[in-house]
Amino acid sequence: MKILIIGSGGREHCLAWKIAQSPLVDKIYCAPGNGGTSLIARNVDIRATDIDSLLKFAQNELIDLTVAGSEAPLVEGIVDKFEKNGLKIFGPKKELALLEGSKIFAKEVMKRYGIFTAEFEVFDNLPKAREYIEKKGAPIVVKADGLAAGKGVIVAKSIEEAQQAIEIIMCERKFGASGDRVIIEDCLQGEEVSIMVFTDGENIVPLVSSQDHKRVFDGDRGSNTGGMGAYAPAAIVTNVVFEKIIKNIFKPLIEGLKKEGKIYKGVLYAGLMIKDGEPYVLEFNVRFGDPEIQAILPKLNSDLMDVMLKTIDGRLESVELEWDERFCLCVVLASGGYPGNYEKGKKITGLEKLENMEDIFLFHAGTKQTPNSELRTPNFVTNGGRVLNVVGLGSTIEETQGKVYKAIENINFENMHYRRDIGDKALKCCAEKY
Ligand code: AMP
Ligand code: GLY
Repeated sequence: MKILIIGSGGREHCLAWKIAQSPLVDKIYCAPGNGGTSLIARNVDIRATDIDSLLKFAQNELIDLTVAGSEAPLVEGIVDKFEKNGLKIFGPKKELALLEGSKIFAKEVMKRYGIFTAEFEVFDNLPKAREYIEKKGAPIVVKADGLAAGKGVIVAKSIEEAQQAIEIIMCERKFGASGDRVIIEDCLQGEEVSIMVFTDGENIVPLVSSQDHKRVFDGDRGSNTGGMGAYAPAAIVTNVVFEKIIKNIFKPLIEGLKKEGKIYKGVLYAGLMIKDGEPYVLEFNVRFGDPEIQAILPKLNSDLMDVMLKTIDGRLESVELEWDERFCLCVVLASGGYPGNYEKGKKITGLEKLENMEDIFLFHAGTKQTPNSELRTPNFVTNGGRVLNVVGLGSTIEETQGKVYKAIENINFENMHYRRDIGDKALKCCAEKY
């Protein structure tokens, strides 16, 4: 089979790496891809949101399956368009990509099916929103309805901060039409985890739990980022909590949607807050988490391609995923300044030293290969905020942390920074409480 993967992050390199192991796969293309994908796939210079050009490419190259990495093309309706043209593609249609594309749509669905989430109100009117904030007090969470590149959520510690958030979203229109309506919701305390499942609209096949580290600095300090690291499985997700998540969240959601005639096919991601052993949904995403999936796929022994095909064909009833029992941990190496402004084009050194390290995997994100005819080994420069993912497998969290952080010592680029505490949450978690 010929596979097209859309995107250019660590998630897409990791997907390409896993898909390449499938006996069903002959050739992989990545659009636009990164330095890492250029080593195992053919990079194609088409943007992830240029759906017309992607369709043309898939038709011309006789692509057997397309996989969209990020949410943008899904929310734009790439699945509808490809399917209309007789092409196989992994992911939900536009009407259900709205679970990520509109936070209000997601909240309303959750309300319909009794899924635990923070209490909320929707506003399209500034004075009413202001009044509600004054009435509720702080802390309080303000969310732009639509996609905002992960920046449309403000967890406000004070009433002033919340009022300022409303101003930025609704008056200054920082996120454009995504801020036409806002959600104001209660602030939940607890521990955040990510759970992803494959679903064909009827059957649910869960992946192992994971925990992202969204803040830029150690100890969850500093600005929010796309994710600075992850580990799997998440210590706080005990079997009891896991069962609650499937039974009280994914099942009612998938069944409810099916009754409405909406069949969700693809991977569905729930960002959850675990509060006193009860899971509450913070958000749904309609694609694999990044960097969570980089900390999950090295644990997967089953053929990912086989699961994806069965998801599309509605044949998940017989699928049970097989897992490596060890822990997996992913640390993101970022450009100086990220998540703010950063420079690109910094020379990356030391990557070859990781090649023969046992149970260590390297997934590129913001990198680019520089053609250099004098050198036989490929050369890479930085080309984004999150640059590399160093991933390791180990029998304990401490052992895995040791391996991964030791591997990182070999890598360098100017102003590189990364968190030193990925996985510490697992050590601190008193899971036996639940
Ligand atoms: P979202 O994109 O909705 O997941 O929000 C981004 C981040 O904001 C989440 O990962 C949480 O850290 C935080 N967040 C969102 N909603 C809430 C809430 N109701 N209570 C506390 N934190 C929240
Ligand atoms: N790691 C968070 C996300 O993929 O949305």
